[in-house]
Order: sequence, then C-alpha cells, then structure tokens
Amino acid sequence: MKAVAVYPGKPNSIHLADLPMPKVGGVPDGRGVLVEVLRVGVDGTDKEINAAEYGDAPEGYDFLVTGHESFGRVLEVGPNVRDIEPGDYVVATVRRPGTSIYDQIGAYDMTTDETYFEHGINLRHGYLTERYVDDQEYIVKVPAGLKEVGVLLEPTSIAEKGIEQAYEIQRRLKVWRPERAAVVGAGTLGLLATLILRLRGMDVTTLARTQPPYLNSELVEALGAKYVSTRRTPLVEAAEEHGPWDIIFEATGVSSVVFESMEALGKNGVLVLTGISGGDNKVEVPGDRIMLGFVLGNKVAVGSVNANRTYFERGVQDMALAEAEYPGWLGRLLTHRVRGLDNYEEMIRLLTDEKGAIKVFVEVNGYL
Ligand code: BGC
Ligand code: ZN
Repeated sequence: MKAVAVYPGKPNSIHLADLPMPKVGGVPDGRGVLVEVLRVGVDGTDKEINAAEYGDAPEGYDFLVTGHESFGRVLEVGPNVRDIEPGDYVVATVRRPGTSIYDQIGAYDMTTDETYFEHGINLRHGYLTERYVDDQEYIVKVPAGLKEVGVLLEPTSIAEKGIEQAYEIQRRLKVWRPERAAVVGAGTLGLLATLILRLRGMDVTTLARTQPPYLNSELVEALGAKYVSTRRTPLVEAAEEHGPWDIIFEATGVSSVVFESMEALGKNGVLVLTGISGGDNKVEVPGDRIMLGFVLGNKVAVGSVNANRTYFERGVQDMALAEAEYPGWLGRLLTHRVRGLDNYEEMIRLLTDEKGAIKVFVEVNGYL
C-alpha cells in the first residue's frame, strides 16, 4: 500500500513509499484494531521532518512514514478487543511507551527515557498511508457526530495536556480560581487552547503578531475572546491592559516570546510552554526583572510535550462541547484540503508557503 515517507537526515526527501498491508493479527493477544485512514492533518513537525531537522526511521527501514494527526474508520478488530467495532471512527495516539516508570503507568508522554517512539515522528511509521493496525490501548473512539472535525483531535490533545498540567500544578494554591488567561500564538494550537480556556469560563486574550482582521483573529473573537496584535501592543504592555494573567499558554516556539511571557505572567500564575524550535537562537532578556517577578510572585513555568490517551479522551469531550457551544467553529480551522496521498508535494507546499493556512490535511481514502 501507498505511504508518504522521508529519508531521515536527507532534506526534502519526501516521496511515495510502499508498505505491506497490515493485518489485524499483527498485534498479539487478539488486541489488534485494523483502521482505514480517512484523514491526516499535518503541522510544523512534518515540515521540519522533511527538512531533516529531526525524525528517525523505524528499525529495519531507511524511510519514515510521516503524519501523526490521524483520523480513520475501524475495518476489523481482534477477538479480545472491547468497546471498539468495525465502522467506529477513531484516532490513534502518537507516542508509544518506553521503559521508564512513567511509561509503565500509561504516562508515556512523561517518559524520562532518552529515546522516545512517536508515530510519524521518531522510530515508528506514521499515518500518511492507507491502513494501520495497533493495540486497542492506543486507539481512541470519536463519536460519528464529530467525524468532520475528528482530525483535529491530536492537536487538541496537546492543548488539553498543557492546560491540565496547569491545573495540576496550581493545586499548590489550594484555592486557584483562574479568571484571566492569555494564549500566545494564534495557529492551530493557540486557537485550540483559546477554545478550551473559554470552555473553562475564562476571560481569554489571544496574542499574535499579525494585525487583525484576518481569519485567525475572527476565530478568536467568535469564541468571545480578545485578539491582540503584538505589533501594536507588546506582550508586557498587553498584560497591564488585559491581565493580570493567571495562566499563559505559549504556543509560538519563539524563545524571546517565552521570556516576555515570564515577565507578563501574573502573581501566582502558571506559564505553559508547548512551542519548540529546532534552532539555536540566543536572546537577550531582562534577567533580573524576570527573576524578581518570579520569586516575589510565586510564579511557575512548565514545559509540556505530547499527550497520552487521557488527554485524547478529554479532547473528545471538549470537541463535543465546542460543537454545542460554538457550532461550526472547529470546522473553520480545516482550511486546506489535499486530495489523496499522491499529492504530497502540494501538502508540503501548503505547509511551507500558504501563510493563511490554519490546518492543512490530507483526504486519504474516498472519505465519509
Ligand atoms: C506532536 C507531538 C509530539 C511533538 C514532539 C508534535 O508535533 O503533535 O505529539 O510529541 O511534536 O515530537
Ligand atoms: Zn503535531
């Protein structure tokens, strides 16, 4: 069967590869779920993998099939699979357990192992192919009512984890009642974080460079959140106007913005960092001021990567809530559709050049 793959370490090597058809019996103990891939979303990680900035092939292969944001329909299940049936819509989680104590309790997103296994990213083939088979443990059901937007579940799970981390950490305060939140970055992840924080009842300000109005600022406002262009109002100034912020969700991956966020964070606040950069930028920051604010304000900063099954399940709940509260909003994120695996060059072009793109996704099999 067809698959879109790269040769890790070789820039711009994206090509069509051939994989054997998986079988439900390929997973031991009758726990296999065979899935027909319907849609796959792509993001900056796929772009960086094609640029050979990271990613490794699975053992025994010289290529890595890309695509970690999956959405599919179950074709067949093994005899010991519970609660999943042929015809169900599903999304697979991305990371697989290693050996650390965290991996052993299902918190593989918290692994302390040096090597991590991520489908479509590192050492495991991804979902830009026709079918896959996996253990039921890693397959999350999506109600049919969400089938048009189900491909957004993986990025939603990343936002869910980051926000859940904030709540977990803030239990230190005994009575944390967050009222105001900021989201920095208005791409897919920033928009989904804005959505979740609004669903939690917060007054949200989402900040990004681009001057409004444009689709992303309209989507922010459609949630009843405020959009602020940092070209007009720098982050620290915006904090005076719209803060104090109990939580800041950072989703730009620009390191200078991270330090500005530390300064802009309110007392007892928590800063969640989710963006990354493969670069080696040096930035100059007002270190003394940031440190003073952190100590005198009892502030916390936390990094958050990946998401385990729990956050995918929470993502399903919030996506359903979103469809009830802000009908049609999630669908507006799906801005660029690529038809078929054969059009992988168009997919990379959209990821690279299409500035107005929010979510680029590939329609894999005939669909819905
Ligand atoms: C993916 C995560 C992954 C991270 C680091 C992101 O693009 O959505 O699942 O853990 O990259 O590889
Ligand atoms: Zn991703």
